[in-house]
Formats: sequence, structure tokens, C-alpha cells
Amino acid sequence: MSLQIKSFEEYQEIYKKSVEDPEGFWAGVADHFFWKKKWQNVLSWDFEKADIKWFEGGKLNITENCLDRHIYSLGDKPAIIWEPNDPEEAHRVLTYKQLLNKVEQFANVLKNNDIKKGDRVCIYLPMVPELAIAMLACARIGAIHTVVFGGFSARSIADRINDTDSKLVITADGGFRGTKTIELKNIVDDALEQTSSVEKVIVLTRTRTPVSMIKGRDVWWEDEVRKVETMGSPACPAEEMDAEDMLFVLYTSGSTGKPKGVVHTTGGYMVYTGYTFSNVFQYQPDEIYFCTADIGWITGHSYIVYGPLSQGATSLMFEGIPTYPDAGRFWDVVEKHKVNILYTAPTAIRSLMAFGDEYLEDKDLSSINKLGSVGEPINEEAWNWFNEKIGKSEAPIVDTWWQTENGGILISPLAGITPTKPSYAMLPLPGVQPALMDENGNELEGNDVSGNLCIKFPWPGMLRTTYGDHQRCIDTYFSAYPGKYFSEDGCLRDKEGHYRITGRVDDVLNVSGHRIGTAELEDAINMHADVVESAIVGYPHKIKGQGIYAYIIADNVERNEDELKQNILATVTRLIGPIAKPDIVQFVEDLPKTRSGKIMRRILRKIAENELDNLGDITTLLNPDVVENVIEGAKKYREKV
Ligand code: PRX
Repeated sequence: MSLQIKSFEEYQEIYKKSVEDPEGFWAGVADHFFWKKKWQNVLSWDFEKADIKWFEGGKLNITENCLDRHIYSLGDKPAIIWEPNDPEEAHRVLTYKQLLNKVEQFANVLKNNDIKKGDRVCIYLPMVPELAIAMLACARIGAIHTVVFGGFSARSIADRINDTDSKLVITADGGFRGTKTIELKNIVDDALEQTSSVEKVIVLTRTRTPVSMIKGRDVWWEDEVRKVETMGSPACPAEEMDAEDMLFVLYTSGSTGKPKGVVHTTGGYMVYTGYTFSNVFQYQPDEIYFCTADIGWITGHSYIVYGPLSQGATSLMFEGIPTYPDAGRFWDVVEKHKVNILYTAPTAIRSLMAFGDEYLEDKDLSSINKLGSVGEPINEEAWNWFNEKIGKSEAPIVDTWWQTENGGILISPLAGITPTKPSYAMLPLPGVQPALMDENGNELEGNDVSGNLCIKFPWPGMLRTTYGDHQRCIDTYFSAYPGKYFSEDGCLRDKEGHYRITGRVDDVLNVSGHRIGTAELEDAINMHADVVESAIVGYPHKIKGQGIYAYIIADNVERNEDELKQNILATVTRLIGPIAKPDIVQFVEDLPKTRSGKIMRRILRKIAENELDNLGDITTLLNPDVVENVIEGAKKYREKV
């Protein structure tokens, strides 16, 4: 069997086989990878206990699959093309041979700094090749990486370090993002004041921002590399890993509590990301593939690093932002590097669309032959613009639905092979068995139905646990619908059996493709000395998809409302990061509550959306009069909504 599906008929046939004989199907896929020792058992599972094991007994190292096995035939092929933030700075190309060399070198650096198999390493780096090198070097020796997105605060880093008990942090002096320089090392220094497990910090030079290097703790990346260079052989043998050994932890927000550490393991994740990359994007040997995500999110893990590299692809990594030096930057990058496949987010598409088509004039986008979208529902207008202006109506768009917990894409067209339709993720990939559930927990059979989206059979890329708290994994994903994985997304299946994701059904917002937990954000706001209580809801936002609307009860509002608002925003930035800052803050006297004291978010959401005809029954509230006051107060903010 070839790894890549080549026709719609073949997709239908393979999908059928994957449901009838999932183990046979996945064993066939896994045979396309390099195993030091073959597995004994393809799958064992018990969703009630969130106990899922793929390829048990199999031994492998994912870096041998991403690097070593390509050296003979693809050694001189670019593995990573790196485009810097500043277009005047030279870009970098790392061939597979060079990347392997650097990964082995840095793996030796890790060993030299006392990192062993199973140790946790926290990575807080800008979008530079060294980020991929650091991740792969961890995987080379069996250390578990946890990458923290550069937009998170010191406190968020500290929480992740403490939760994973990380021994080492890898960071840089700073990072460039558009016109800004982010002082990464200084932020790490603040984080480390709230942790005790970290023994060493390796600091990469990027921005030459002044940093304070602490004796005995902080070392420079470049010095450490030089040290291992003088030690002789640059090689670093790949640690033999069990298929179910942990590969990485990545934190993501849910509806309750602090972010969860989603755990992915080695064998299944490798097979799933490789298989889905090859099929969804229909990658061809000489194509240049550009995923605009940040590696700090799952999309970057799976579809900048592991998926493309295991398939011998050329993965373009971009340090900057789409609007620097101007809103034509993505198109400059496409033209400069002759990008064939562009995978981006609806929020980026909408924002570039809003800048106007003049940024597209004179740009040669003729190399593009496939387009992809991820992270949030894509509206028809954005889909059509992407299709017409970027793909010239000739490049199929894959609208890929998946989540941090899924490891890889679950529902999506296969580019040029299966049908597409604006705003639809279309059909499940082979091996993926979706189920739509009604509110009574029954599966909705047939077409033209909508409900809560579950997956009723395991796939190799799915999460195995939430780090340090397995019960939370069971409660969050496997309890609402016993025997099924619950995505917490709403979804419809149309008359033709095509899937359309309608958005989260829990209290999680999706702001510019970033997941923000409302409870976590409320906790942060409530930390401000003047805040009594707060409630966060989402509202439709033209560019971001969803905006954040905060209703806040606070003391001293009358003294200086704007200053108080700015102070609350600063608190959010400090506790979570700038990505979680509310767009609208409305100070209220009280919040509508049920008789048992629960905040009625449904009503607050309607007010934020300005859907006042449809508030539902408010007479059963503890304090129905409050609703009128909140509506009255909201008028002031209405023009912004
Ligand atoms: O609501 C869905 C939305 O993003 C959520 C997952 O967010 P995260 O774990 O950060 O992963 C994002 C990148 C994989 C989902 O629960 N989402 C993701 N992709 C789509 C989507 N909503 C609609 N269409 C999509 N293609």
C-alpha cells in the first residue's frame, strides 16, 4: 500500500477498510516508518479509563524517522528554510544532513548539561531554526519537551515549569516580532523566581538584548555547542524509545482551572502526523511547504516540525508576522521561496483581506498549488478571498479541523482528491470515526443533523493523558459521552454527509485561533485588588473570529474608569499574557445569576452580541432587574461590538 491516497474512490475504499479493520489499516500505515523493533500489539484501549496504547512493544526514535532515514536519498535537500523577521536579513537553509548534524550536536549539549531520558525541558524560543533543533535534540535523547509560546507571561511559564518539574529551560536573549523585541530571557528570569526545579538555562543569541547571566545556572547556547565540538565525534546515537514513551507535553486551555498539559507519545504521534501531512497536503517531493503557525502551538509541532520532516518535506519557517514590514509580507515570502503549499489561519486571512488587495499587486503567487486553513471556523467571505486571490481559483483549500489533544488533523479534505466547500471541513480522514450526539447522549445517525462532535474510536495521534492528573483527562474528554472522546465542538453533518464545525460548546473562546479559557481569564482579572467579580464571554469579531468581552464588578470605578481598565488589562498581561487581554471591558454593578448563584453567561453572551430580542426567560433569575442595567450599560460599548 502506498501512503498517499490518490483518488476519491481510493479514499472511500480506504476509509471503509479503516473502519472495518482499524488495526490492520494502521499497521499498514506504520509499516511506512522506521522501527528499531516492531510492535507486538497495534492497539489496546479503554476510553472509560482513558487508557490508550498504540504499537505497544514497538521501539523507535522519532528523530531517526525525521532525519537519519532521509540522509541517503535526501541528505542535500532543504529540510528547513528559515525566513527572518527582517526581510533585509539573510534567510537560512538547513539541509537534512545539516539539520541532523545540528540536532546531534545539541543533543550532546543536553547530555553535557545532565539531561537524560525522561527529563522535562521547557523551551521558550522565538521562531528560529534552533527551536526545531532543540525539540528534535530532546526527542533524540528521550527528554520530554514542553514548548511555551512567546506570547505567554512569566507566570504562565512558571506554571508550566512547575507542573512538569522541568530541569532545564532553553531560551534566547530575545525575539523579534515585527517592530518589537520580546525580552525572552528577562521573562524567563522572572518565571524562575517562582520555580525551584530548574538547574540550567541555555540561552541562544538572537537579538543581543542585554541579559543577566546567572553564574552556575545560565550558559550560552553557542558556548555549549563549541564545548561539544571540541569533544570529538559530533554524533549522538538516538535513544531507543517505547512507542508509548512520552514525546512532549503541550499546555492548552479548557473551561475550568489552569491549562492542562496535553501528553503525546512517540509512536502513534509520529505515524499520525506523518500520515495526515502526506495525505491532506498531498505533498510531492520537490514542493516547498509553508505553515505560518507558531511552533508554540500544536500546529507548529505537528505540521512545521514532526509531520513534514518525517515525510522528507521542505518546511518553511517564518520568524515574523504577516504585517511587517507591510501587509504583503506573506506574499513576499511566497514569491521569494516559490512556496507551493500555504497553510495558515482564518484570522490571518481576514486581517490581510482587510488591508486591501493592493498588497497583492505585483506579487507572483503562481507557485501556490494548495492552500490550507486551521484553528477556527473559516467564514465564506474569507474562504472565497483565499481561493480567488491567493489560489487563483486553482488551488484546493483544505479546511483542517483538529485540536491540541488530537495530535493531528481529523476532519479535512485531501487536497485535490476529495471535494471541498466553503466553511466545511468536509470528511473524516481514514481511521477517524466521528459521531454527532444529541443532548440526551444519543448518537444522531444519518445526514442533515447537528450535535456535539465526538470521536468513537481511537486514532494513533490522540492524547494519552493530561500531565500529572490522569483523572482530569478522563473527566474532561471521556466522561460526557461514555465510550467516546468528546471534542467540545459543535458540528453539523449536511445532506451529503459533509461536516461543518460550528465552534466550541464549552466556555472556551477562540480568539485569533488562540484558545482562551474563560475561567482562567476570570481568575486572572479577579486577582486585581479592586475587582469584586467578573464574567467573560465571547462575541463575534470581524478579524479575530471571536473577541473577548469582560463584565466586571469593581470598586473605585467612578474614580478613573479608564485607568482602572488599563490596570486590569496589565494584570491579565502579567498573569497570562497579552493574547488574553479583553477587547471590551464593561463595568457593571451586578451580574445576572441563577437562584443557586451561578452567573448566567447565556444572557451576558446575548447582550455582548447585541441580540436583545432573544434573551429567554429571565424571571427565574435571582436578580432579574440586573439585566436591564447591564443592557443599558452595554449601549456605551455597542459601537465597538
Ligand atoms: O473549536 C475548534 C477550533 O480550534 C479548537 C482547537 O484549538 P487548539 O487546540 O488550539 O488547536 C488549534 C489548531 C489545531 C477546536 O476545538 N478549530 C480548529 N480547527 C478548526 C476549528 N474550528 C473550525 N474549523 C477548523 N478547521
